[in-house]
Amino acid sequence: MWRKAVLVALLAFAVGYLYHTNPELPECMVQLVTQSLPQSLLSTQYESSAHSLEEAISRAWESLITAPTRQWGRIAVGVNACIDVVVSGVGLLQALAVDPGSGSDHDVLHSKEDLKETFIHYMERGAAAERFFSDKEVFQRIARAASEYPGAQLYVGGNAALIGQKLASYPELVVLLCGPVGPKLHEILDEQIIVPPESLQETDEYHLILEYKAGEQWGSTRAPQANRFIFSHDVSNGEMSTLETFVASLEEFQPGLVVLSGLHMMEGMGRELWEDRLKEAVVAISDVRNEVPIHLELASMTDKDYMSSIMKEVMPIVNSIGLNEQELLFLSHAGGGPHSDLAAWDGIPDVGRVTDILLWVLEQHGRADPESEADLTRIHFHTLAYHILATVDGHWANQRAAVAAGARVASSQACGLQAVDVSKVVVKAPLSFYSSFSEPRESLVLDPSSPVTVWRRGNVSFYLSPVLVCKQPLRTVGLGDAISAEGLLYSEIASQSPSEHC
Ligand SMILES: *[C@@H]1O[C@H](CO)[C@@H](O)[C@H](O)[C@H]1NC(C)=O
Repeated sequence: MWRKAVLVALLAFAVGYLYHTNPELPECMVQLVTQSLPQSLLSTQYESSAHSLEEAISRAWESLITAPTRQWGRIAVGVNACIDVVVSGVGLLQALAVDPGSGSDHDVLHSKEDLKETFIHYMERGAAAERFFSDKEVFQRIARAASEYPGAQLYVGGNAALIGQKLASYPELVVLLCGPVGPKLHEILDEQIIVPPESLQETDEYHLILEYKAGEQWGSTRAPQANRFIFSHDVSNGEMSTLETFVASLEEFQPGLVVLSGLHMMEGMGRELWEDRLKEAVVAISDVRNEVPIHLELASMTDKDYMSSIMKEVMPIVNSIGLNEQELLFLSHAGGGPHSDLAAWDGIPDVGRVTDILLWVLEQHGRADPESEADLTRIHFHTLAYHILATVDGHWANQRAAVAAGARVASSQACGLQAVDVSKVVVKAPLSFYSSFSEPRESLVLDPSSPVTVWRRGNVSFYLSPVLVCKQPLRTVGLGDAISAEGLLYSEIASQSPSEHC
């Protein structure tokens, strides 16, 4: 005991001495010295420091994020995979000799002009979007220009491959990836990932990712926040050509969890094609052994009928979905759900509104009612400022750790770091919010020392964690995939599902 007291006195003396000799001492130096002091002594000092809120949340996450009792062991991921070429959007368009102009949205891009107009449309909103480029030859010319553009970077791309990469960073997991894997992709994939030989192909599928920074200007267009615009001419992923191979490989691989993504890629093929292919996809997904939970990662879509078909036919046969704020609102638009009168979110999505839509999805297309035939019991919602994990009671466990782990990975990865740096991030989540947009509703607060807020509505529990938003994000592509992967890794099936008692 006395040893500790002496140590504290010595350290306190040292801090006092440093202050005394140099009152202008940079804050970081003082923090360096004070890091070795007991927490209780420092609480007042931290509260007065510039990053106290971020510091408190980051610290609380560390004790909150605990591993689930049972881990998945083997995870199978499919089916979209490609090479991402990341390039400055404005730089590439200038290199393609197109002039700035006004924005206009196109569901499918047929030409460089369509590309420019759609890019501007999203850039001036600072919103993410993904489109299919229909002309193969023009696309190949643009892809060549993009990969040769100074500073262009090549990465593993496609939600399935990105989720696989994230999972493969955990050496104790065995990860199978099925998708159109070309030679370049195979070379840069984590070597721990198992790729079935049937899913290897001769050429790579390229996706072009046009990034822009917050405040970046082109002609009269100015980006309110950093984001990216994605397009490709990707037929393999567009047809989900490896879905059947994927499902067939599960028999031998015997995964504990199946993660599926790439459904959004089919939309660009046109209605006749997706209608038939989606039916086949539903049959294939239904073939996955019933005991294996399936997570579906959604992505940007534009066709309401397609979204509506996915909602009615696919969601009930998966156990979990992951999506962002645009996809959530689009689900509501497609299905006439709550707040579908809202054309777009205005800034940070209102927690009450988000909760209303999440509850509606789980009640309409999920298992909120135990009598329902649907399997969907979990939604991992992510937006820049906060994440919500919504689960039907009795089906999942470790939700607090799972939602916080997803928020933590978003907070570090956006800054290009392995761990959260509190000086580089800021809380943008509301500090108080409601459990619904309309009455009756519960008033809720964010407690930085216990930063997962929990509330219940009907048979669903909601877990909200703020994100420590990176002030100068380096790379936002694949962030949603990393969030979902991390959230799944810390999630587990509840040992006693209520249906087992029936
Ligand atoms: C919630 O579950 C109970 C049974 O546990 C069921 O009777 C009720 O209908 C469910 N509520 C909703 C909104 O589905």
